Amino acid sequence: PQPDLQRHFERTIERDQRIEPRDWLPEGYRKTMIRMIAQHAHSEIIGMQPEGNWITRAPSLRRKAILLAKVQDEAGHGLYLYSAAETLGADRAELTEKLISGKQKYSSIFNYPTLTFADVGVIGWLVDGAAICNQVPLCRSSYGPYARAMIRICKEESFHQRQGYELLLTMMRGTPRQRDMVQESVDRWWWPSLMMFGPPDAESPHTEQSMAWKIKRHTNDELRQRFVDMTVPQAEMLGVSLPDPDLKWNAKRGHYDFGEIDWSEFKQVVSGNGPCNAQRVAHRRAAHTDGAWVREAAAAYAAKRAGRSAA
Ligand code: ACO
Repeated sequence: PQPDLQRHFERTIERDQRIEPRDWLPEGYRKTMIRMIAQHAHSEIIGMQPEGNWITRAPSLRRKAILLAKVQDEAGHGLYLYSAAETLGADRAELTEKLISGKQKYSSIFNYPTLTFADVGVIGWLVDGAAICNQVPLCRSSYGPYARAMIRICKEESFHQRQGYELLLTMMRGTPRQRDMVQESVDRWWWPSLMMFGPPDAESPHTEQSMAWKIKRHTNDELRQRFVDMTVPQAEMLGVSLPDPDLKWNAKRGHYDFGEIDWSEFKQVVSGNGPCNAQRVAHRRAAHTDGAWVREAAAAYAAKRAGRSAA
């Protein structure tokens, strides 16, 4: 690149200003941003499945309306994020192709099954809680379209988190069987939620460069710690225990210490061998195939209109 373009890019980052689609940017920055935004978009779209599974079995009209709204929000987030990736020259159809052929990743968390309705509450509380922790700092990410998309997404994520926590508070005031359901669900989701933040800093290949480019504002371990510190008091309020005998307040550090994460499980899930990976991707692939006629009709309509205005 011309040296002045490179300098302009660097100065924009230094001054904490935003990189915009019209700006020159290094190829590595573009690639990193596309990878991250695409993985995030795929996570939102695949993330509709575990909860969508409960829409027809919600225990009341109110719970059904809330859940439906939440799953629709996730579809919206996915579409928004694909649009942000398009500003970097990515092609949406290609991104979808990479998702359904297993070439691009989505968050590990969505490869776990939702076995009871308590899972809807626990996903809201823990999974969306972790997502907020990770995504609020991304509102200050250096890439403008991504950072701006994150503002609305975070607002909606807070609604998701609150509906989950409120659902769990209600269940905890219910029968012993309902309380057991909540505890059993927390026991299954706690460790996978901690894995959402990604590998430990020492084993995270992208963190250093992404921090230097101000794409990421905190490391994976920093955000994981923040999430644990924020969640322990919420668990106490709720009256559930977190399944970690090593979890305890460390006054010297001013943080909660927690046990060792099973990174071999994380690696298995990320490499496609989690409990639901095959099912999630197959479902997305089938939906894409079933929707082919809509895309064809839309393209035919657009071609017809273009022909008319040319005439
Ligand atoms: N699930 C699946 N893959 C993961 C996860 C995870 N929980 N954590 C890390 N990875 C992948 C990375 O994508 C990267 O893969 P790649 O090199 O093949 O592309 C690899 O593991 C190494 O990880 P890092 O070097 O730590 O990667 P990165 O710097 O991108 O950090 C993180 C990962 C924290 C997830 C970051 O990309 C991020 O903040 N993304 C935006 C938020 C997001 O995508 N959230 C999705 C879930 S939340 C939701 O949708 C409700």
